Parts: sequence; structure tokens; C-alpha cells
Amino acid sequence: MRLALFLTALAAGMSTVAAQAAGPMATPDPQLIAKCQTCHGPDGKGATPATPRLNGQNADYLLHRLKGFLDPTSGTPHATEHMWQTATTLSDRTATELVRFFAAQPATPADPKMPLAARGEKIYRQGIVGDVPACESCHGPAGEGRAGAPRLAGQRGDYLEEQLNAFMLQMRVSSDMNRHAWHMEPDQFRALRAYLSNDR
Ligand code: HEC
Ligand code: HEC
Repeated sequence: MRLALFLTALAAGMSTVAAQAAGPMATPDPQLIAKCQTCHGPDGKGATPATPRLNGQNADYLLHRLKGFLDPTSGTPHATEHMWQTATTLSDRTATELVRFFAAQPATPADPKMPLAARGEKIYRQGIVGDVPACESCHGPAGEGRAGAPRLAGQRGDYLEEQLNAFMLQMRVSSDMNRHAWHMEPDQFRALRAYLSNDR
């Protein structure tokens, strides 16, 4: 009997802990959101050169990137210069609150620029025979992103192209992207940019 009571109490205690962990996150500190927005723009939809949009981006990916900025050897000097210091000031909880906030903002749609975009779409859908698998197999049929792979559609063009170059030069470390970008040429990056990005 005592054992049964003990087990019931233990189960009740455990479910409380789990509910707290899974419960709604607090809204991030408005001053902190404002700080991110100075570079990433209102709701993360900004138009600062070479600075990614965060709105509608996959939250797990954003968190993974924020942690990645702590290791300068895994990113470009540009990433370290702009994000290292900010990333060091964020606790896990604050970082999670912030990425959930930006991920929940409506995404920016792609704005394909023809005729180059047609070439970009072909690479996106079919890859490059023998060398690169279709981008859509990881990033989703509409560039919307999947678990583990970021949204690309509607991202700023200069940022997208810089990242592809950084993957090609192995300056941004990613086991998924380095081996693919290695087989690609800058004019293919420009075509993908024309298909996926939105610079408005
Ligand atoms: C001084 C300007 C600046 C501020 C302030 C800033 N960022 Fe950034 N952020 C950047 C730049 C520039 C990049 C692109 C780095 C690169 O080249 O990879 C970036 C990249 C990112 C990325 C990677 C996105 C992706 O698509 O890979 C995340 C996540 C991010 N920032 C979150 C934040 C958050 C959250 C805050 C506020 C706590 C913040 N940033 C504040 C400039 C800034
Ligand atoms: C095997 C799966 C896979 C394939 C195929 C793939 N990607 Fe990726 N891609 C990823 C992952 C995972 C990341 C996140 C890398 C990281 O951890 O920083 C990524 C990141 C990116 C980024 C950086 C986005 C940002 O916000 O910083 C770009 C741009 C990109 N991929 C473009 C492409 C293009 C274009 C293709 C096709 C030529 C492609 N990817 C094919 C998995 C893939």
C-alpha cells in the first residue's frame, strides 16, 4: 500500500516536471528582440545587406546556428564578427524563446527573377547529375525547409550566395553542404539565388 502511494506520488511529481518543460515559453524580453531587430529588421524580415531574414525560419535550425556561432572555427569571419558576441550573451532558455519568436513570424515568399531563375529551379529540383542531389530533397519542394534543413525561399539573395560560397570554400562547416557546394560553380549559385531569394 505504502509502495503504491509512493509510486503514485512519484508519477504525479514526474508529470509536473514534464508539463513545465513542455509548457509555453515566456515571451522574449522586448529589449532583446529590439536588439536583434537592429540588424535583422522588424520581426526578422529586414533588408540589411548580407544579414539573413529570420522570419518563418525553422526554430531548431536557428537554435543550432546560434550555438554554432560560439565556435569561430566552424563559421566565416563575417559570422563571427556579427554574431559571436551576441551568441555568448544568450542563455539556452533565452535563445530558445528568441528563436521561437522569430520562427513564428510569417515567412517572406520567394521572388524568382527570370530567366536565370529557371536554371536555378532545375538545379533545385534535379540536382547536378552524379555530383549533387536535388536541393529539394532536404530543403523541401517549395524551399520551405524541413527538420534539420533551413528554409531558403524568400531569404536575402546576397546572404544566400555568400553562404553557398562559404560552404564551397569550407569556411562554413556543414557535413551536408560542404560536399555538395564543392562540386558547384559560382554561376550556379547565382542561378539558385535568382530562383530562391527575395530582395524586396
Ligand atoms: C550587429 C548586427 C546583428 C545583431 C545585433 C544580431 N545579428 Fe544575427 N546575424 C547578423 C549577421 C550579419 C548574420 C549573418 C552571419 C553570416 O554571415 O553567417 C546573422 C545571422 C544570424 C542567424 C543565422 C540565420 C541563418 O539563416 O543561418 C541567427 C539565428 C541570428 N543571426 C540570430 C540573432 C538573434 C536571435 C539576435 C538577437 C539576440 C541577433 N541575431 C542579433 C547580424 C546581427
Ligand atoms: C543532404 C541534405 C541537403 C541537401 C541535398 C542540400 N542541403 Fe542545403 N543545407 C542542409 C543543411 C542540414 C543545412 C544547415 C547547415 C548548418 O548546419 O549550418 C543547409 C544549409 C543551406 C544553406 C544556408 C542557409 C542559411 O540560412 O544560412 C543554403 C543557402 C543551402 N543549404 C542551399 C542549398 C542548395 C542550393 C542545395 C542544392 C544545390 C542544397 N542546399 C542541398 C542540407 C542539405
